[in-house]
Amino acid sequence: MTLPRTLVVTGASRGIGATIALELAQRGYTVACLTRKGAGPEVTVPAELVPRFVNAKCDVTDEASVKQALAQVAAKTGAIHGIVNNAGIHLDGPSDKLTLNVYNQVMSTNATAVFTACREVYPHLIKAGGGIIVNIGSFFDKIGVKRNVAYCASKAAVGAITRCLAVEWASKNIRVLDVAPGYIETDLNRDAFQGPLRDFLAKRIPGGKHGTPQDIAKLVAAIFNEDIPFLTGETLYIDGGQGVAH
Ligand SMILES: NC(=O)c1ccc[n+]([C@@H]2O[C@H](COP(=O)([O-])OP(=O)(O)OC[C@H]3O[C@@H](n4cnc5c(N)ncnc54)[C@H](OP(=O)(O)O)[C@@H]3O)[C@@H](O)[C@H]2O)c1
Repeated sequence: MTLPRTLVVTGASRGIGATIALELAQRGYTVACLTRKGAGPEVTVPAELVPRFVNAKCDVTDEASVKQALAQVAAKTGAIHGIVNNAGIHLDGPSDKLTLNVYNQVMSTNATAVFTACREVYPHLIKAGGGIIVNIGSFFDKIGVKRNVAYCASKAAVGAITRCLAVEWASKNIRVLDVAPGYIETDLNRDAFQGPLRDFLAKRIPGGKHGTPQDIAKLVAAIFNEDIPFLTGETLYIDGGQGVAH
């Protein structure tokens, strides 16, 4: 098996993205961390992994910025073999009062930017002879959640984008997957975890515990490592069984 060498991770500064970047670097990949500051993961990086990171400044909602960052990465590393579209935001509020400004911010970062990054990485993957795109969705794509209309819609769109591109680009040796986490404690939901959410989840998740960024990072890394040719277009839920529990 030939391992892809350079993988791009968007939103690699914190949370799940930083953990995915570290996991991929530990497995021997060169990891291009696309972050708004351009400074790479804001976590402790073991000294031996530092040379595996290539950092580029990128706001995923700005298509010129995405194009430029990918071009910089390709120029530095010679090729791009895959991308993890992880950057995302969570804004909520009662649907009857949710402004279009908030709705559009969520859609723009979580859904439109995933399409943009897929489109912009496409020529690089073609040049490399194919590759793998992993989009980070959410199990909120299949459930109704109060106050979360924009977030849920954005993640459902990620599933749709994944399916369409998987079908359209299969003949180009490009596979597209949606990894859809359940509850993972990060900055995205830190405040909610201070409230009754923790106890609620202890009852709702069959194993009684929410997940960790490491759980998601291991699945994403396995997708690249195992390189399974017949696996594409799917949404892979990783939620401790919460989404299927009665
Ligand atoms: N945590 C969960 O329970 C959970 C569950 C399901 C799905 N997810 C998804 O997992 C992904 C990562 O979430 P997380 O929990 O790790 O959240 P997080 O800790 O809040 O981190 C979000 C990351 O996205 C980046 N980002 C946001 N807007 C960006 C933009 N316009 N351009 C570039 N980067 C941007 C942030 O960069 P800055 O440092 O610059 O702000 C940060 O690195 C998201 O897509 C989220 O929807 C999370």
